[in-house]
Amino acid sequence: MSEQNKSIALVTGGSRGIGAAISQKLGAQGFHVIVNYVSNETKAAEVVQKITAAGGSAEAMKFDVSHEDEIVKAMEEISKKGMPLTVLVNNAGISEDSLILRLKKESLDRTLQTNLVSAILLSKEAVKLMMKNRNGSIIQISSVVGEMGNAGQVAYSAAKAGMLGLTKSLAKEVASRKIRVNAVTPGYIETDMTHELNETQKNTIIDDIPMGCLGSVSDVANLVGFLAGPDSHYITGQVIGINGGLYI
Ligand SMILES: NC(=O)c1ccc[n+]([C@@H]2O[C@H](COP(=O)([O-])OP(=O)(O)OC[C@H]3O[C@@H](n4cnc5c(N)ncnc54)[C@H](OP(=O)(O)O)[C@@H]3O)[C@@H](O)[C@H]2O)c1
Repeated sequence: MSEQNKSIALVTGGSRGIGAAISQKLGAQGFHVIVNYVSNETKAAEVVQKITAAGGSAEAMKFDVSHEDEIVKAMEEISKKGMPLTVLVNNAGISEDSLILRLKKESLDRTLQTNLVSAILLSKEAVKLMMKNRNGSIIQISSVVGEMGNAGQVAYSAAKAGMLGLTKSLAKEVASRKIRVNAVTPGYIETDMTHELNETQKNTIIDDIPMGCLGSVSDVANLVGFLAGPDSHYITGQVIGINGGLYI
C-alpha cells in the first residue's frame, strides 16, 4: 500500500505486551502505526523496527496518556501527518493492586486517570478527527475484572468497568458518523503485568480458567485486528470477552 493511501492507527502503550502485539498486527494489516509509550523508548523502537522489517510502516510517539495537555498535543501532531486517523486503540494501562482499606487516594487517582480518563479524552480527540472522514474504529482494552470484579482491584476494576460505559455511550453518539466503538475484555494474558504474579498465584488463576491456560498477546491482537478492519463494519457498542471461559 502506498504511503498516500495509508491511514493511521494509534496504539497507546504500544511498546510492550498486548499493545506491542496489537501494533504489529495493525502494521501487518497496512496501517501506519503510531506506537505510543511513556518511558520505554527502546521497546517502542523495537516494535517500530519489527513492523518496518515486515514491510509495514510505523513510528514511535512519546506521550503520557494521564496528562490531558500531552494527549491534545499528540493528537494535533497526528492531525498534521497527511493521513487520516482511522483507528484508536486505548490500550495503555496500569494496575496497582490494594485492598480498599489500604487504598491510597494518589493510587486511586493514578489508576483512574491512566486507565479511564485517558481513554475518554483520547476518544474525544480521535472523534474530532474521524468525524471529518466519516470513518473510524475505536477499541478500548478493558479487562475481565471490569465485568466480574476481583478482590484487591477496586480501583482497577472500576476503571475497566468505566471503559465499558464509555464504549456503549460513545457508540450511540457517533454511529451515524460511521465511527464504531467496541471494547475488548481480556482475561489473564502472559505479559509483564502478569509476570509479577508468583507461581502459586498463577496456578490458582489457571485452576479457575476452563481452558486451563493463560491467553497470549496474539490472541488479543487478532481480535483487535478484526475490530479495526472492514470485516467488523456492522459491529459497534459491543464488549467482547477473550478469557478462556473465565467469565461467561
Ligand atoms: N496482561 C493481562 O493479563 C491483561 C488482562 C486484561 C487487561 N489488560 C489490559 O491490557 C492493557 C495492556 O496490558 P499489558 O499487560 O500489555 O501491560 P504492560 O505489559 O504493563 O504494558 C503497558 C504499556 O502501557 C504503557 N503505559 C503505561 N502507562 C502509560 C502512560 N501513562 N502513558 C502512555 N503509556 C503508558 C507502557 O509504556 P512504557 O513501555 O513506556 O512503560 C506499556 O507500553 C492494559 O490496559 C491492561 O489493563 C491486561
